[in-house]
Amino acid sequence: MIYPLLRPLLFSLEAEQAHQLSILALETLGRMPRSLKAVAEYLSVSHPALTQTLWGLEFPNPVGLAAGYDKDARAAAALPALGFGFLEIGTVTPRPQAGNPRPRVFRYPDSQAVINRMGFPGEGAAAVALRLAALQQPHPVPIGINLGKNKETPLERAAEDYVSTLDTLFPYGDYLAVNVSSPNTPGLRLLQAADALPELLTQVAAANQRLAAQHQHPPLPLLLKIAPDLSPEDITFIARLALGDAPLVDGFIATNTTLARPPEHPEYTETGGLSGAPLRQRANAVIAQLYRECSGSVPIIGVGGIASAADAYEKIRAGASLLQIYTGLVFQGPELVRDILLKLPEICQKDGYSHIHAACGTCA
Ligand code: FNR
Repeated sequence: MIYPLLRPLLFSLEAEQAHQLSILALETLGRMPRSLKAVAEYLSVSHPALTQTLWGLEFPNPVGLAAGYDKDARAAAALPALGFGFLEIGTVTPRPQAGNPRPRVFRYPDSQAVINRMGFPGEGAAAVALRLAALQQPHPVPIGINLGKNKETPLERAAEDYVSTLDTLFPYGDYLAVNVSSPNTPGLRLLQAADALPELLTQVAAANQRLAAQHQHPPLPLLLKIAPDLSPEDITFIARLALGDAPLVDGFIATNTTLARPPEHPEYTETGGLSGAPLRQRANAVIAQLYRECSGSVPIIGVGGIASAADAYEKIRAGASLLQIYTGLVFQGPELVRDILLKLPEICQKDGYSHIHAACGTCA
């Protein structure tokens, strides 16, 4: 209702200015409990077919906010009121950094796509810790923390960055996402390779165990966020990291943005990661392969190009237990979340599924 009125204003601004304005508005809303409650009453949707417990966490619905929107946890107090079933904060780096020169975000409304080359701008882990520490406990919805590395940290020391951010943020998150798939930090995606990934994950998992003992809290579920530009062989290797007697990860987030450019869109000339509608099918294929390789035993968060309830359902059928959205929100606003949540139970019911879980992986 409100977003169609705000959209012309936001689209008259440069993309990143529009983003900052929306963060500022949500940060302000987060300090106004009565308004927050009114927004939540309007936008929230509860339905028994949508609730799930995964990794011991209760998800009131499967639609989460993808990483990159709220990198510094400024809007984290207000975001649950927009109806999200969970949030992912970050990518957070240990130290503050500026990211790439602006402009670095480009919208393509005709094809519902975005290209970004942000390069992890952010205030760093300590600033994020202060904000997360001030949030209501327990969190109204699970909060994931997406971990990354600073640009100047050499690749061979990347694990130190992931561990350092985890050291600072462990007490404030409900799950962890190891991000080795953003295309805008030079070399980051090389950490997905077979000769680097097990070692990186072993170090993060060890830190997770150490912090769990220190804080007398179970280790946080450790998820791996992967790129859509991996080969089927790479995906097979990555899937196996979640299997066996000593799995290194508890789940996957598939996928990050793509470096591929569909030939039918010559207008995508900017450098960076492409998200939104043109990513949807490739992300679904990655989700389906992960689901098949793990025989449905490892939860997957499906992300990439969700712009409708039908898109959300398609990802669940490909094998996603949970979903995340970013680009769809740029074009449709938070009412997209409500729209998906209102329609999903009905779509599942039509196919004979009384709960989203029953539909998960049925088209993998
Ligand atoms: C992102 N994304 C992202 N992912 C991540 O793991 N860390 C990050 O910091 C960011 N930053 C970021 C900025 C911008 C402007 C966009 C559009 C995206 C990727 C995002 O979380 C998601 O994986 C992809 O955008 C695909 O989902 P959508 O956007 O098609 O719903």
